[in-house]
Amino acid sequence: MPRGTTTTVSPAEPLDRTRPPAGSSATERLAGLFPPGTTVGPDGALVIGGCHVEELAERYGTPALVVDENALRARARRYADGLADRWPNSRVAFASKAFPCTGVYRVLSDEGLGIDVASGGELTLALAGGADPEGLVVHGNAKTEEELRMAVDAGAGLIVIDNFDDIDRLERILAETRGREQGVLVRVTPDIRPDTHEAITTGQRGSKFGLLVDQAREAIARLRGSDRLRLDGVHVHVGSQILDTEPFARAVEAVAELGEFAVYDLGGGLGARYTYDDRPPTVEEYLDALVGVARRVLPAKARVVIEPGRSMVAEAGVSLYRVVTVKHSGAETFVAVDGGMGDNLEVSLYGQRFEAAVATRVGGGRPVRLVGRHCESGDVLSAGVPLPDPRPGDLIAVPVTGAYTYSLSNNYNGARRPPVVMCRDGESRPVVRRETYEDLMRRDLV
Ligand SMILES: Cc1ncc(COP(=O)(O)O)c(C=O)c1O
Repeated sequence: MPRGTTTTVSPAEPLDRTRPPAGSSATERLAGLFPPGTTVGPDGALVIGGCHVEELAERYGTPALVVDENALRARARRYADGLADRWPNSRVAFASKAFPCTGVYRVLSDEGLGIDVASGGELTLALAGGADPEGLVVHGNAKTEEELRMAVDAGAGLIVIDNFDDIDRLERILAETRGREQGVLVRVTPDIRPDTHEAITTGQRGSKFGLLVDQAREAIARLRGSDRLRLDGVHVHVGSQILDTEPFARAVEAVAELGEFAVYDLGGGLGARYTYDDRPPTVEEYLDALVGVARRVLPAKARVVIEPGRSMVAEAGVSLYRVVTVKHSGAETFVAVDGGMGDNLEVSLYGQRFEAAVATRVGGGRPVRLVGRHCESGDVLSAGVPLPDPRPGDLIAVPVTGAYTYSLSNNYNGARRPPVVMCRDGESRPVVRRETYEDLMRRDLV
């Protein structure tokens, strides 16, 4: 891939991410949501990863998903070092469903993280992105025989048993690979319902994921008698965008009750700070809570694995759009951009709230309805976000879009999915190109 260079605007003040500046507007305060190290240049424009937003937009077009590589790497280290400091026999596995592109797999594998995959597709991308097979944790509530075979053939370190058919299938597959042993975990559903959107809760009774405690015990007993499947431990994951530590602590207690194992995979789920008002626990607060309970209830020699997805990648990403039209309709101002639910489905799926800024005039403004270009009234990126006199052609930046936007992007209304551009120290490089109209027709048999 060609590497491009953009000019860094200087001098520029690092944004204060912890406190709102006194007397600042909501939009000025939201500037603190952009990736750490983001600056506002003397011209009032955002500089992300040392790259000026207008130059990025001109070079790569819009919509585009910009990733600050240093922010991504820093977050990976914060997680890995933070967990290792508290529980040395540990591993952080990136839950790659949050951002499954080879560029991201490569950066996070390079930082030494394991990778959680949840399909044959993610497995393929992870391996192409340089993931170490031994560090792979393979998930899925409906893993097909083909996917299980792919995982075994790839030498995946751990496969997570989500149902009894997984056991039957793996026994069959392993019987064909003479002498091979496969490490597995049993996923337990502990009946914990965290306070988050229903669509992203996974650990409650009635969830399609995992096995209720009695069934988990049955699976454990069966696996203990298996010649080919090596029961390494247990797994729990109770949901996503969780904004307090209590459900995580309860989940650790729940897996501890299943007995003593070599591995405890405690899942992911820590929430990201999407809006200025959001106050998720910090990585350190989360790890303190998790390991605090682990020290009390888990065997001291056990290996602890965690699988952060959203909180690993969310704040490193920024979506850039161009305003196509501004419409005043009664009391409402609609600012319509050249993207929307095709590249950010989180609003429609979970009602996720996002902030936004005019990327070249950060700060101030009156509340508008920032909408997409798709044929749904629900295609709203941010309702009531203050923008300063937005005009057609303005560049809009939506922060905290690193998680689940790329993964959920789609071709609704024939949208061409946007590029992913990594920025680092003033240099930018595309790691995913924009789709073309030819791409849209590639699978059509005419
Ligand atoms: C098994 C498992 N682990 C980890 C995650 C990551 O969760 P999050 O992105 O909220 O950290 C998920 C996401 O739903 C999951 O299903």
